[in-house]
Amino acid sequence: MTNTLSLPRSVEWNESYITLLDQQQLPGNVEYIKLQTIKDVWDAITTLKVRGAPAIGITAAFGLALSALSYDTDSVKEFNKKLALDQQYLASSRPTAVNLFWALERVAKSAESASSVNEAKTKVVHEAIQIQVEDEETCYRIGDHALSLFKKKDKIMTICNAGSIATAYYGTALAPFHLSKQRDIPLEVFACETRPVLQGSRLTAWELQQSGVDVTLITDNMAAHTIKTKGINGIIVGADRIAANGDTANKIGTYGLALLAKAFGIPFYVAAPQSTFDLSIQDGSSIPIEERSPKEVTHIGDTQIAPDGISVYNPAFDVTPSELITAIITEHGIIHSPSLESIQKVLLQSAQ
Ligand code: MRU
Repeated sequence: MTNTLSLPRSVEWNESYITLLDQQQLPGNVEYIKLQTIKDVWDAITTLKVRGAPAIGITAAFGLALSALSYDTDSVKEFNKKLALDQQYLASSRPTAVNLFWALERVAKSAESASSVNEAKTKVVHEAIQIQVEDEETCYRIGDHALSLFKKKDKIMTICNAGSIATAYYGTALAPFHLSKQRDIPLEVFACETRPVLQGSRLTAWELQQSGVDVTLITDNMAAHTIKTKGINGIIVGADRIAANGDTANKIGTYGLALLAKAFGIPFYVAAPQSTFDLSIQDGSSIPIEERSPKEVTHIGDTQIAPDGISVYNPAFDVTPSELITAIITEHGIIHSPSLESIQKVLLQSAQ
């Protein structure tokens, strides 16, 4: 039996504007906003109105296409010059998720072979839409592979939001739960709230509740106790950038969960598309880690929860070494015990 899925979508191309689900307003308000300029897109990414590696990439790709449509020139050379500047501008919005740079590069490259500005405009729009279409298919495959790793009634922990609203559709780490609902396979999810920006409580709890998945919210400091007392069977997370050796940057707190998985002897899975791999980086030490405003830590909404003048460290991501990762689940299949060799084997084989 299969049930119908109706998951929230984060971003939509509308020719002269982009429609965006404002994730900062969730779960209280489900509000879609209009992005009409490249500056709107840059702001939406930096302020986390859209977040999650694939969704950031898709939105930036649409932003670049939107801007390109407004170029007032007949020269292809001039068009590509403007495109490169806009690409650079959008690339400055967030540093860690490699999907951002990957998607912008794809859109910019698509215009290179155009012989007229009109053709270049058509190509950039087509490429941006194609990135979104492909990501939906990719996420479905990731979900399918990931679901094969779970048994009926398994209790799985996750952190942050690697769901439908962080991608084109389905999500990465949350895709198996949405598919389990569709296929009537009962699974229980334990979602860590994910301080400081609360993507777990505001977004994952909301998204899984929307699709009827059995989800229980915990605060981040409850993870060890919950694994022990609830008998958690495994942990699955998304990724923002995976180095050639499998070291994985993901939301702050992920590394701690990987260490807990090792201590408890349960599997620790990373679910991510090929576009999240950065094979130009040998290991996790070269992944740039975004540090965000201290206000995310000293305030919840407008309420101050720390003394004035306190010094704050607020890294948005951490890096989990590949030896703590049981498997990386991609659209091309499952990479068990990820290493330079096993990753290259799966990714390069799929390119043939
Ligand atoms: O700061 P965010 O909310 O953009 O961080 C998002 C994550 O860490 C996700 O796990 C990752 O981008 C994968 S989304 C499919």
